[in-house]
Amino acid sequence: MNILSSSILSADFTRLGSQIEEVDKAGTHYIHIDVMDGMFVPSISYGMPIVKSIRGITDKLFDVHLMIIDPIRYIKDFVDVGADSITFHQEATDNPAAVIDEIHKYGKKAGIAIKPGTPIEAVFPYLEKVEMVLVMTVEPGFGGQKLIPETLDKVRMLRKLIDERKLDVDIQVDGGVYIDNVEEILEAGANVIVSGSGIFKGDISENIIKFRNKLSE
Ligand code: DX5
Ligand code: ZN
Repeated sequence: MNILSSSILSADFTRLGSQIEEVDKAGTHYIHIDVMDGMFVPSISYGMPIVKSIRGITDKLFDVHLMIIDPIRYIKDFVDVGADSITFHQEATDNPAAVIDEIHKYGKKAGIAIKPGTPIEAVFPYLEKVEMVLVMTVEPGFGGQKLIPETLDKVRMLRKLIDERKLDVDIQVDGGVYIDNVEEILEAGANVIVSGSGIFKGDISENIIKFRNKLSE
């Protein structure tokens, strides 16, 4: 099944609660939460207090994307405020296996992410351990960027390998995904689709419905 994850980075923060309720009602599967530390990426977004406060308004899966250096330091904190799935960057740690173990220790799903410049081979040693691989289709740090087409070659390679090895691993794509290019992304082999601007700009409910239709075609 294909999954839609709404990235709240593009929400109107003065109306964050009602916009999350809207994506929930309209049929998003996951809520994608981008955590940035100003070190791994230039920008600083939000952290545990925001996650904790929105946990009360939706039961949808919290898909936390950590763009932070040395992510193992914060796994427990994000679990405590309600993360269901935690994705960290391969480039942000020298011991990805330890981060995966830490996430699993709390019974949560683990994802490993790579930036556009990182070869797909970087995640191969962890495919037996993770529930998801996130192939970034823009440089992490900001919403509203254009998808880098070459990154989809990595999705194709990964899909082939996962299918050949019959692994139960989701492929998530994040960055520059819109209703009019999502088909190509699904065709490349991704099955968890993140969108921020494509959902929160314009009519939110309508955008979700259009995405859901594409995802179920
Ligand atoms: C970027 C974030 C994305 C971002 C995507 O670093 O990881 O989740 O919100 O935004 P769009 O869909 O606008 O490219
Ligand atoms: Zn993200």
